[in-house]
Amino acid sequence: MTLKAKSQDSSFPRPFSENYELLGVLGQGGMGHVYKAKDIRLDRIVALKVLESTSNQESISRFKLEAQAMKELDHQNIVHVFDFGEHKKELFIAMTYVEGKALSDVLRNKSKLDFSAIELIAKQIARALLFAHSKGIVHRDVKPSNIMLTHDNRVYLMDFGISYVREKEQERLTMTGMTMGTPEYMSPEQCRGDTVGEQSDIYSLGVILYEMTCGQLPFTGSKPIEIAMKHVQEQPPAPETFRPGTPASISKFILKCLQKKPEDRFKNMEDFLDGFDDAFNKAREATRKSQASKIRNRTLLSQPQKLAENVLKLLPIQKRLVVSCLLLFPLIMILLIALMLLHKPSRTLRELPAPSIHGNFEQTSFEPGIDDYPTENIFDENIQTAWLFKAPTNSKNPILTMNFDSETLVTSIGIAIGYQKSEDDPIGNRYSIFNKPKTLTIRTKEGFKQEIVLDDIRGMQYPKMVPFETSEIQILLGKTYTVDATKPIAISEVRLLGMNLK
Ligand SMILES: Nc1ncnc2c1ncn2[C@@H]1O[C@H](COP(=O)(O)OP(=O)(O)OP(=O)(O)O)[C@@H](O)[C@H]1O
Ligand SMILES: [Mg+2]
Repeated sequence: MTLKAKSQDSSFPRPFSENYELLGVLGQGGMGHVYKAKDIRLDRIVALKVLESTSNQESISRFKLEAQAMKELDHQNIVHVFDFGEHKKELFIAMTYVEGKALSDVLRNKSKLDFSAIELIAKQIARALLFAHSKGIVHRDVKPSNIMLTHDNRVYLMDFGISYVREKEQERLTMTGMTMGTPEYMSPEQCRGDTVGEQSDIYSLGVILYEMTCGQLPFTGSKPIEIAMKHVQEQPPAPETFRPGTPASISKFILKCLQKKPEDRFKNMEDFLDGFDDAFNKAREATRKSQASKIRNRTLLSQPQKLAENVLKLLPIQKRLVVSCLLLFPLIMILLIALMLLHKPSRTLRELPAPSIHGNFEQTSFEPGIDDYPTENIFDENIQTAWLFKAPTNSKNPILTMNFDSETLVTSIGIAIGYQKSEDDPIGNRYSIFNKPKTLTIRTKEGFKQEIVLDDIRGMQYPKMVPFETSEIQILLGKTYTVDATKPIAISEVRLLGMNLK
C-alpha cells in the first residue's frame, strides 16, 4: 500500500507492519507523515516517521547509513532512533515519542520569545549539535519543526541526516519539474549546493535565534529560490529593527552566526557555546545596570538641593530656619518615595486574591481542549484564598489549575494538609478524613516546573520554592495516599503570595 493510499485511510488504530500499529497522526512533513505508533514487540509508544517510497536505490542505501548513524546518537537533547528500515517500499524510522510542541508551532504567530526562553531552547539545541558534531554527524536540517519542546523544559532535536535523503530526492524531483523544499533555515553554502559542515548547522541555529528574537525570519520571499538568493547575497536586517531593545551582545552574536562565509561564523559548537554564554551574561549585566540607573535617576535630588541653597543664601539668618523646614519637607518626601521605590517588592508583595481555579486528577498536559479540568469536583467555600478539593474515592494526585488575570510573580505557596475532622470544623464535618500529599509539583503554562517535598505535618506550611512568573499554574499534589479509602480524598487549602506584574 502506498503512503497516499494509507493516508486516505484515516481510521486508527491500524497496522503498519507486523511490528508497528499506527495510533494517530502527529504531523506531516515534506516527505511523509509522522505517526504515533505502538511498537508491538516491545509494547511501547514511538513516533514512526514514514517516508514515501523512493525508487532511487542510492537514496535508500544512504538513508540506511544515516539512520544507522542516528541510532548511535544517544544524548538527552536528541530524539533517539530505535529502529529503521523499509516496509513495502516505504522507509520508516521509529524514534522517541516526544509529548510536547514543535518549536514551529510555538513560533507560528510570529511570536517573539522571552530572552530567558530563547536561552533555554538554543542552549539545549547547541549541546545536541555539539554532541552530534563530535561524532562526525552534521544535522543539515536544523529548523523549528525539527525541534520539540516538552512541558518540563526539555528540548529535543530530531531528524538528523534526513535532509541528505531529501536533497537526493529533490535532485530527482527537480528533474521531474517539481519545486524544491523551503530554504528559510539553509546556510548560503547549502543554498549554493556546496559542501556542508558544522558551520552550516551554526548558521541554521542562528536563523532560529533570529526568529525567536524578532518574531520574523531574516529572509523571506514568495519563492524558495528568492529566499535562497537572499541567504547567499543579502545582509539580514539587524534584530533591533524588529525588536527594539534587543541587547547589543545578543544581536551581535546572532549576526555572527549569520555570516555568509562559514569561516566568519563561530569555529565550531564549542566556540558557539562560549560566545552564547558570554552574550547572554553581558545582556543580563546590561539589564541589571540599566535598571539600577533608572532607579538612581528617579532619586536624583541635585536640582531641588541647589535651589534650596540659593534661596537660603538670600535670606536673613532668623528666617532661614523656617524656610529650611519648608524647603526640606518636599526633599524628605522625595527621599521617602525613592526609598519606597527601592523597596518595591515589599510594597506590592501580598497575598494574591483567589484566581480562577479548576480541579482535575492526573492531568499531564497543558494542551488546550482536552476537555480539561472538570469543575464539579470543586468546592469553593468562599474562604478567600482557600479551596476545598474533593475527589472521587481512590482518585490519585489531584491537580489544581489556577489562572491569573495577568502575568503574576508567585513567590511563595502555602498549603494546608492533613488536618482531621473536628465537630466544630464546618469543613471537617463534610469530609471526615483529609489526605496528605507528600509532594507538591508546580508547573506553569510557560514550562517552568519544580517539585517540592512536603513535611508530614498538619496545618499550613510554606515549603521552600523558587519564585516564578506565570499567568497559569498547575499544582499537582503528588503521592497522595488515602487515609480511608471509603472517604472522599485530598482536601487542601492553598494560599499564594506574590504580586501582579501588570
Ligand atoms: N518524535 C516525535 N515525537 C512527537 N512528534 C513528532 C516527532 N517527530 C515529528 N513529530 C511531529 O510531526 C511534525 C512533522 O514532522 P516532520 O519531520 O515529518 O516534518 P517537518 O520537520 O515539518 O518537515 P520535513 O519533511 O522537512 O522534516 C513535527 O512538526 C512534530 O509536530
Ligand atoms: Mg522534521
